[in-house]
Amino acid sequence: MVATRAGAASTSRARSPCSASGRAAIRSATSCPWRSASTSPAPPIPTPSTCATAARWDLAKTYVEIAEFNLQALSSHIYRHHYVAEPFAVSSRRQLAPSHPIHVLLRPHTQHTIAVNRAAFNLLKKPGGVFATLYAGELRETRNIMRRSYERWSVREQEIEADLAARGVADGPREYPWRDDARLWTPVLRRFVADYVALYYPSDAAVRADAELQAFVAELQADDGGRLRGLLPAGELGGRDVLVDLLAQFLFIAGPGHAAVHFPQTDHFTYVPAFPGAAYRPPPREGELVDAARIADTLPPLDVGVAQFQNNQMACYRFDRFGDYDRYELGRVAAARPLVARLHADLAAVEQEIERRNRARPRPYPYLLPRLVPNSINI
Ligand SMILES: [Fe+2]
Repeated sequence: MVATRAGAASTSRARSPCSASGRAAIRSATSCPWRSASTSPAPPIPTPSTCATAARWDLAKTYVEIAEFNLQALSSHIYRHHYVAEPFAVSSRRQLAPSHPIHVLLRPHTQHTIAVNRAAFNLLKKPGGVFATLYAGELRETRNIMRRSYERWSVREQEIEADLAARGVADGPREYPWRDDARLWTPVLRRFVADYVALYYPSDAAVRADAELQAFVAELQADDGGRLRGLLPAGELGGRDVLVDLLAQFLFIAGPGHAAVHFPQTDHFTYVPAFPGAAYRPPPREGELVDAARIADTLPPLDVGVAQFQNNQMACYRFDRFGDYDRYELGRVAAARPLVARLHADLAAVEQEIERRNRARPRPYPYLLPRLVPNSINI
């Protein structure tokens, strides 16, 4: 789908705040006017065999990467992790007493999420800011990627196995490090959360009878609250299994899920020629010369490229490490100490297994190594 969007990108120019260099960004990834022209056939998707030269194929791939840059940052990263996590951070503080066991569990995994999201939200509205400067769309179009993500995905559809099945990648390709390493995390998180919930809720009835917990979950879903769609199988928190599934999925989103979409940006998006945030020339017409100069002219101008490098380099910051609860109340709960110790042991085993896999992989995949995964979304 991404290839189609980019390959068939609009050839219309859009004024952009980053046109100070004399070039205006092309809205290649975030808006597709050709889609509404239902009478026009979609342009063909370029392939190595349909591109007359290597340069033409390189340029086709560049447009795909621009689309990927925008979708990854706005949908996969910011919306599906930062803004799905935010209601948990807000409503756990509003509806659960600080000493409530679920508040205590969530506190490390919601640390600084509200602050970082507020900063991002302000930038998403700021003319001349990073989102207005680096990305392919104008601010309204860039925000629209997030809005459409909200409309298209429910929270339960983001659960790993549901997501893999929906994308048809549950079993193949054979080499898919994110999928394979994420599957190491899910049983570890579920066991930790299940054991923790069992400390405080002896039965399903106890879950149903906890008024604070019910208010928390209701606010996560409320139209005037978190507005998280499809959060629970029947829309209700009816028992312990549902609670465990919900919390385990949240811990994944806040920890390894976010780490896997955030930290690769520093490794990849800092190399602007491979991952430009926007195109500054429309895709070439049939027969139009494509050479190195044409490719360079399509890439962001130097000042924009420098800003893209700086922003993605700064993003490489880790506040803490997943399962490090020393600074939180959770680290002082005596009954939870054996559970936390086992979590640490389980994560050490995950670390070992990923290290073993990385030695055999064509290219190491470090992003789900537990030592590189923070507790929360704070950057
Ligand atoms: Fe992030």
